[in-house]
Amino acid sequence: MFRTDDPAEYRRSCNELRLTGPVAFVPTMGALHEGHLTLMREAKRRAKHVAVSIFVNPTQFGPNEDLALYPRDLPGDLDKCRSVGVDVVFTPEPRSMYLPGEATRVGVEALTDELCGASRPGHFDGVCTVVSKLFCLTGECTAVFGQKDYQQLKVIQRMVADLFLPVEVVGHPIVRESDGLAMSSRNRYLDPEERTRALSLSEGLSRASLAFSEGERAPRALETLVTECLQSAGAVIDYVSCADPERLSRLPDAARPERALLAVAAFVGKTRLIDNRVLPDEAELAVVAGAGA
Ligand code: PAJ
Repeated sequence: MFRTDDPAEYRRSCNELRLTGPVAFVPTMGALHEGHLTLMREAKRRAKHVAVSIFVNPTQFGPNEDLALYPRDLPGDLDKCRSVGVDVVFTPEPRSMYLPGEATRVGVEALTDELCGASRPGHFDGVCTVVSKLFCLTGECTAVFGQKDYQQLKVIQRMVADLFLPVEVVGHPIVRESDGLAMSSRNRYLDPEERTRALSLSEGLSRASLAFSEGERAPRALETLVTECLQSAGAVIDYVSCADPERLSRLPDAARPERALLAVAAFVGKTRLIDNRVLPDEAELAVVAGAGA
């Protein structure tokens, strides 16, 4: 496995790999867990070569967010990448991704007004900017993204289509712990008591999913099932939204959708967690850790 923190060297390495077969790419912010590794295995299944980036991107964090505290474990991450057969790992420093005098931002409209875009102003501009830089360096590839960040996946797909980037963006189902908690680098912040309360996100979504399968279609009723579950666990809700799965806008009261995105963001203690489910469920069967590997 080759590792570099130099953008030009990373670009050269991807170009060289492409001489002998296609490249699949998995961008990450490190603190890798089984969710990330599942994306890398999926990448390996789809292409001969796999490139991974590990970069805690400062421009996607708000001033009061957890940039400084974001978990980092480069040696552990590199071992994990090696264990799943990654070919090249790109580990740049902020100063080589954002050059002195840099003044370019990439943004996607409309889709970013909703959900996390509404509660984290500027977040998706940071994501789109760094992902477009990473795509430019990686070159033609299949890029694998998790549906855990459902809005991010949709925004990146829009960006790639609009900018004619030579990238095929593929979504992968959410990887969960055996009790249902969506895997996240931020789960490391949770103490044991918070870890238990964090289950209210996936449990609330499961209850709503069950209700949907039994015929409930009212968006507010589905949201209420999630809200009640979160509140009884003492989680502080950022949003609970029953939304159009393509446009991401909240469905009106009178809607009776055949398909819906149910998305949630909530604080458990100081930790902000997100989860979602596309209803009905067959579009996004949760992959229990390991079982789908
Ligand atoms: P990060 O949070 O490290 O996530 C990297 C990728 O792993 C994303 O595509 C995310 O959706 C996916 N992922 C995380 N947890 C997952 C889970 N439980 N199941 C399935 N996929 C999961 O997302 C980012 O980094 C950044 O915004 C990035 C795209 C790298 C740009 O900086």
